[in-house]
Amino acid sequence: MKELLQALTPGERDWRIATQLDPKRLPAHVAIIMDGNGRWARQRNLPRIMGHKAGVNAVRTTVETCAQLGLEALTLYAFSVENWKRPRHEIEGLWRLLRFYLRGELPTLMRNDIQLVAIGRLESLPDNVQNELQSVMDKTAANRGMRLNLAINYGGRTELLDAVNAILENAKLEGNLDALEITEEGISSHLYTTGLKDPDLLIRTSGEMRISNFLLWQIAYAELFVTDTLWPDFKRTDLLEAIFDFQNRERRFGGLACGPALTGESPVYMLEEEVLELPLA
Ligand code: FPP
Repeated sequence: MKELLQALTPGERDWRIATQLDPKRLPAHVAIIMDGNGRWARQRNLPRIMGHKAGVNAVRTTVETCAQLGLEALTLYAFSVENWKRPRHEIEGLWRLLRFYLRGELPTLMRNDIQLVAIGRLESLPDNVQNELQSVMDKTAANRGMRLNLAINYGGRTELLDAVNAILENAKLEGNLDALEITEEGISSHLYTTGLKDPDLLIRTSGEMRISNFLLWQIAYAELFVTDTLWPDFKRTDLLEAIFDFQNRERRFGGLACGPALTGESPVYMLEEEVLELPLA
């Protein structure tokens, strides 16, 4: 948070929003479905790839701002397992942009102590993309600030399949398949995001009310923030406003809003006999 305030000019709009944020209640992990690049390009009579190119700038700003805020993790949905259905030239353009981003962004990642990790079925990516990703992952592996997950050839269902198959494979290797019990912890620890907290906040741009197969397991209790802003137009202000909105939500995780854990007051409980005597009809 300190880093962000230092980067802002006192009095400017982003500084005003940032100073209203509670540094103790920042989301630990933010996940973003970056949608609307195609529409942004169409509105300007440009080829779709120009929308993706403009989207790279939004990626840069968002990554650096999240690191300056001191978030533990940011997960960006860059390419889904379903995106292979797009025209070949668009897919190839996306790989070129990703490689361009990775090359150009290394100094920023290092300066901000960001560790980059690609998550998804990476083995199906073109060799030059895999190599570029591996090179940046290696170079940033020792960074201990924010973890930046780039979800590439990612699908929530394939991630769950990979996790369950890995659990089965381990059990077979250890010869205890018969006694195998699959638990929530077991699944969580075999996801691509193992070791990270689940996202507290899921942002989706361009107004669609969909999850699109993103982090299906991990977003069980995430707060959702959908904005009509198209991804290339998503600025630092939009991110700070999303976090401000998040901080004004009441998160109950299936519990009660006014429980003693939250207010410190004694709750009013009914006696067991009173509960049993409640008329149910
Ligand atoms: C969705 O918009 C966006 C994508 C499928 C790709 C996202 C890629 C980038 C932001 C640029 C490269 C990424 C990195 C990490 C450097 P859409 O094309 O579905 O938009 P539309 O719904 O308006 O057509």
